Amino acid sequence: MGDRTTEADALVIFGVTGDLARRMIFPALYRMAMRGMLNVPVVGVASSALSTAELCRRVTEGIEQADGKTIESRALEHLLSRLRYVSGSYNDAHTFKAIKAALGDAHRPAYYLAIPPALFATVIKSLGASNLADRARVIVEKPFGRDLSSARELNRVALSVFPEDSIFRIDHYLGKEAIMNILYFRFANSFLEPIWNRNYVSSVQITLAEDFGVKGRGAFYESAGCLRDVIQNHLFQIVALLAMEPPAYQGYGAVHSEKAKVFHAMRPLQPGNMIRGQYGGYRNEPGVAKDSDVETFCALRLSIDSWRWEGVPWYLRSGKCLAATVGEVLVTLKPPPQRLFDDSRPVEGRTNYLRFRLSPNSAVALAARVKRAGKEFIGDQRELYLLDERPGEEAPYERLLGDAMAGNGALFTREDAVEAAWAVVDPVLSMPPPAYPYKPGSWGPKEADALVAADGFWHNPGLMKASA
Ligand code: BG6
Repeated sequence: MGDRTTEADALVIFGVTGDLARRMIFPALYRMAMRGMLNVPVVGVASSALSTAELCRRVTEGIEQADGKTIESRALEHLLSRLRYVSGSYNDAHTFKAIKAALGDAHRPAYYLAIPPALFATVIKSLGASNLADRARVIVEKPFGRDLSSARELNRVALSVFPEDSIFRIDHYLGKEAIMNILYFRFANSFLEPIWNRNYVSSVQITLAEDFGVKGRGAFYESAGCLRDVIQNHLFQIVALLAMEPPAYQGYGAVHSEKAKVFHAMRPLQPGNMIRGQYGGYRNEPGVAKDSDVETFCALRLSIDSWRWEGVPWYLRSGKCLAATVGEVLVTLKPPPQRLFDDSRPVEGRTNYLRFRLSPNSAVALAARVKRAGKEFIGDQRELYLLDERPGEEAPYERLLGDAMAGNGALFTREDAVEAAWAVVDPVLSMPPPAYPYKPGSWGPKEADALVAADGFWHNPGLMKASA
């Protein structure tokens, strides 16, 4: 937690009438209010001419949709009593004058940009020009830029107005318990480190699957696609936590530096290392072009050119309208060097592995072979299963918003890391391979199987039995 001198004393939400505010930010503020952690004025800004009463109604609806009808009225009233509304264009100096007036005597506000990425620079520049940026901080949603050059430009604009430690780039995956556990599990245990490298790991797979489509966000998706929407950020963050070197000291600056090094060591992607797919029916979604080539599925083979990971393939896969909603990491280990038992180097199935279940529940499993009872020296692979079903006390947005308000940048992404991650995907953004069609409810286009074939087959989470 930040101390009182760094704690923001107001929250300004640009884009307060939008989808992100309704689905994520209002429920997070409500839960902060329930825990007694919301004690600052909240100023909503958008272009629609709304009354504060109408904004309160929208906020209440957003919370009801997220948390059901059993709302704690004291917490809700507490939140609503803090709301103010400013309407106006983000290009207009009057809007920012009105924001200044609404902020009253607050002088360390946090500005949350819950607006389309194309407007980030406009708002940041206007905050600077209206003298609203001093001692303030800005919270920016992903995707941070559309490619390397736009991310650089956005960083340049943001850094011309705010210092780096006042810029909070959100990737909500970093606020998830299961993702934080990767960092903890790797460096709070000593048994892993000796095997966590190219000598013992044969490949790593990460799957983030969703069994639903773009859910009315067709227009956004058309400008993003799966690679920009989740792979360059959420999945790359998971790779960085799995692949990074041990941080040199206790403190998040060290974690940020080690993660950035992983992105720098990733080999820039080539079209041959990527399969794009599009689910049948995507082109009929509202806001989607009839001849759209945007990918709703993406699979990659990544290489990390570091001492630790030389030669180890990293397979990443994500998509909409797949067979399940689930996220998992599978770290497959090499077989024993000698075939002492007939089945110790399985021809089919998997060698030993470590599995991190990321969603919908959180778990870690370690698979090892054990002998079956009897005369024969044959056995089965069994999972040692560590399950932690308990959800965290705070949902990711609540956690991250609270951290940003407190000035704690640990779970946010740093300028150099964001740019290095864009540099990896940049070559395929300008020359994307074709998007293959796939059936909703499948695991994506069959062409993705060929990508992984040299190292086995895709692990379809949820289908793995206790003995594999
Ligand atoms: C968002 C993407 O960042 O992450 C969505 O824009 C995606 O398309 C979502 O569905 C997945 O997040 P979660 O927390 O539901 O796994």
